[in-house]
Parts: sequence; C-alpha cells; structure tokens
Amino acid sequence: MAFFRQLLLLSLLFQSILIIKCDEEEDNLLQGINQYRASLNLTALTKNDRADCLADEIADQFKNQPCTNSTGSKTVPGTEPQYSDYPNLLTKCHLNVTTTRDGQIMPACVPNLERSLVLSNFTRSQYSGYLNDTKFTGVGIGSEDNWIVVVLTTNTPEGGYYVGTKTDNGASGISNISYMVFLFIGFVMFL
Ligand SMILES: *[C@@H]1O[C@H](CO)[C@@H](O)[C@H](O)[C@H]1NC(C)=O
Ligand SMILES: *[C@@H]1O[C@H](CO)[C@@H](O)[C@H](O)[C@H]1NC(C)=O
Ligand SMILES: *[C@@H]1O[C@H](CO)[C@@H](O)[C@H](O)[C@H]1NC(C)=O
Ligand SMILES: *[C@@H]1O[C@H](CO)[C@@H](O)[C@H](O)[C@H]1NC(C)=O
Ligand SMILES: *[C@@H]1O[C@H](CO)[C@@H](O)[C@H](O)[C@H]1NC(C)=O
Ligand SMILES: *[C@@H]1O[C@H](CO)[C@@H](O)[C@H](O)[C@H]1NC(C)=O
Repeated sequence: MAFFRQLLLLSLLFQSILIIKCDEEEDNLLQGINQYRASLNLTALTKNDRADCLADEIADQFKNQPCTNSTGSKTVPGTEPQYSDYPNLLTKCHLNVTTTRDGQIMPACVPNLERSLVLSNFTRSQYSGYLNDTKFTGVGIGSEDNWIVVVLTTNTPEGGYYVGTKTDNGASGISNISYMVFLFIGFVMFL
C-alpha cells in the first residue's frame, strides 16, 4: 500500500513538473514575442484567456503529428492544415466564428520546444508578418509535446475573441488538470 502511494505521488509530481515546464515554454515565448514587438516599437500583446484556450485545444489536435517541412511555421501559405472539429474547439472555449474571424492561428513544431528555436520559428518565419502587425493586440499560447500554438487577437468585434457562446469565461483544460493534480498531491501528502 505504501509502495502504491509512493508510486502515485511520484507520477503526480512528474505530471505537475511537465505541466509547469509547458507553461514556462509558453511564458518564454510570450516574452520573446513582446521583446520582438518592442524592438519594432509596437505595443506588447496582452493575454487573452479564450485565445489561450483555443491555442491549447489546437495544440492538442496536433500533438501526435510529427514535425515535417509541411507542418508548423514552414507551411507554405494556403496549405495550412484544416483543423478537424474547429467549430467544436471554438465552442469548448466559448467562442464563435464571428468574433474570431480576424484572429491568426500559428502552429509550430519544434522538437522538445527548444527555447531559441521556438522563438525564431515565430519571429524569423512567415509568421513575423503577423507578429509585426499593429492590428493584433492580444495573444493566447498553448503547447503539447513538440507543438506550440500562438493565437493572435485584435481589439475589434471580428477578432477580439469575445465570449461568443456561454457567458462563462471558461478556463482552459490544462489549468483544470494542473489544479486537479495539485489537489491530488495535497490529498496524498495529507494521508
Ligand atoms: C523606435 O522608436 C525610437 C524612438 O522613437 C526610434 O529611435 C527607433 O528608430 C524606432 N524603431 C523602429 C524600428 O521604428
Ligand atoms: C519537404 O521535404 C521533402 C524532402 O526533403 C521535399 O521533397 C518536399 O518538396 C518538401 N516540401 C515542402 C513543402 O517544402
Ligand atoms: C523551426 O524549428 C525547426 C525545428 O522543428 C528548426 O529546424 C528550424 O530551423 C526553425 N526555423 C526557424 C526559422 O527558426
Ligand atoms: C513585417 O514583416 C513582414 C515579413 O517579415 C515584412 O515584409 C514587413 O515589411 C514588416 N512590416 C513592418 C511594419 O515591419
Ligand atoms: C457570436 O458571438 C457574438 C457575441 O456574443 C454574437 O453577437 C454573434 O451573434 C455570435 N455569432 C454566432 C454565429 O453565433
Ligand atoms: C474547467 O472547470 C470549469 C469549472 O471549474 C468548467 O466550467 C470548465 O468546463 C472546465 N474546462 C474544461 C476544459 O474541462
């Protein structure tokens, strides 16, 4: 029994470390993007919770795909993969097509999300043309395995990622999971 409990504790700790690492990659990327914008005299992008949620959902769709030259930031414009289930992903994040039309979704695949490569995949690829655009004011970032997804939002009704379905401003799935993991760790330690 004690052995089982230790095993559980270990696996939960491991999971939470993974989640924290994931968040760190996302924070690093946001910092890097905002430094890039500052160097162009553009305002910093602010976090948008629903864009964050959508980025997580899309990263989740990509996570089992390998990195190739036809995925992520190397995608030739016009050949972006269509997201199966896109309307469902929007609904999950309490969004709809009306308020997300002018946003920009940018997936990138970088083995182990290596920090400098992640940043250059956004600032030194075709994506830089979106990152240097004054019309974007908000951002959401999600990652899964080797995939990291940036969603840019505007401050207009067509791209603001305003709540489009339920009034509840739903948190992303990952924060629920990490919350539950922490809850479990607390519970197990208490035993
Ligand atoms: C940013 O603004 C500073 C001061 O106003 C100016 O010297 C610099 O050339 C600007 N840089 C760009 C990339 O516009
Ligand atoms: C991807 O790489 C393969 C082999 O290196 C090449 O044949 C193909 O044209 C490349 N595709 C694109 C979109 O660059
Ligand atoms: C993007 O990441 C890939 C790794 O998946 C790397 O080979 C490539 O050099 C990066 N591209 C840029 C522009 O940094
Ligand atoms: C933004 O980036 C694109 C692509 O790198 C470039 O063609 C364009 O001139 C840049 N615009 C500004 C305002 O820096
Ligand atoms: C999307 O949400 C906006 C804002 O709540 C609303 O005005 C619009 O009618 C909705 N559009 C659709 C297609 O549901
Ligand atoms: C996260 O939890 C909230 C309530 O705590 C719930 O409304 C929401 O749907 C959950 N999100 C996901 C993705 O499970």
